[in-house]
Amino acid sequence: MPLVTTTEMFKKAYDGGYAVGAFNVNNMEIVQGITEACQEQHAPVVLQVSKGARAYANHTYLVKMVEAAVQECPDVPIALHLDHGPDFETCKSCIDGGFTSVMIDASSKPFDENVEITKKVVEYAHAHGVVVEAELGTLAGVEDDVKVSAEDSSYTRPEEVEEFVSRTGCDSLAIAIGTSHGAYKFTPEQCTRNEQGILVPPPLRFDVLEEVSKRLPGFPIVLHGSSSVPQKFVDMINAHGGKMPDAIGIPEEELRQAAKLSVCKINIDSDIRLAITATIREYFDEHPDHFDPRQYLKPARQAVKDMVAHKLIHVLGCNGKA
Ligand code: G3H
Ligand code: 13P
Ligand code: ZN
Repeated sequence: MPLVTTTEMFKKAYDGGYAVGAFNVNNMEIVQGITEACQEQHAPVVLQVSKGARAYANHTYLVKMVEAAVQECPDVPIALHLDHGPDFETCKSCIDGGFTSVMIDASSKPFDENVEITKKVVEYAHAHGVVVEAELGTLAGVEDDVKVSAEDSSYTRPEEVEEFVSRTGCDSLAIAIGTSHGAYKFTPEQCTRNEQGILVPPPLRFDVLEEVSKRLPGFPIVLHGSSSVPQKFVDMINAHGGKMPDAIGIPEEELRQAAKLSVCKINIDSDIRLAITATIREYFDEHPDHFDPRQYLKPARQAVKDMVAHKLIHVLGCNGKA
């Protein structure tokens, strides 16, 4: 099947009480690892491309690799999405260049300005059969080299969502309920410790999510910053020459809970980076004489595939939904 928009997949996800995974793609091994897992698990998927990914890999290469995945995985509904579109021009370039979905992220702007920019993108996108994700509220963390501190982040204000959606006409809404970008989502000071001394992050604000859902019945909600930062990968990285102290993510149970509610799209990037880095670090330690990139990129791609398959089944619940 050709690339699809997210309209149908989100409607099914909302009604079925699961979420679709939105995974960031930056190279061939990542595209293959994700889509092979989706093909085997019969799961729909959003492949998303950031401004940084376009700068790194080039728009055309990314589109062509995703088109190759569409051809190789004929049973998987795949949407190609711009992640964190910073302005109208970037969104327009992706809409004109084959994407089926774009995010305009004007969440750092004042409300009326966010409405104005989002509305302009929606008008252009809808005229071209493309859907639009917008954002209200600010996540903490790092994205495209912009660092937002926990103090400067702000939860979405539920009282604003109806006006925002009706004035902009956006198709889905990313909200801030305590998730955060990157592999260091919380400082140790923000966490408590369990009996084993392991850091336990502060819980997501499900009250905010529920209030938003009440005001926007049937409307798809998106969660950014939703990597779980598996301890297994952090330990592998630290055991093989890396240094990632205090890396911490969102517990899988909380994401599973969100997926059962109105959250239809869950964004995961950092866990892909961790899977690749952990695998390659271990490989280099164990095979210091190897120098053919295929030797270490093959297990790295497999690690992405295994990690994504785990998410599809145990976190998102979208396996068997293609
Ligand atoms: O939310 C941001 C994503 O993790 C993309 O990161 O801008 O470094 O490609 P990037
Ligand atoms: P993570 O850093 O938690 O993987 O979040 C990715 C994301 O939100 C991409 O938009
Ligand atoms: Zn994001």
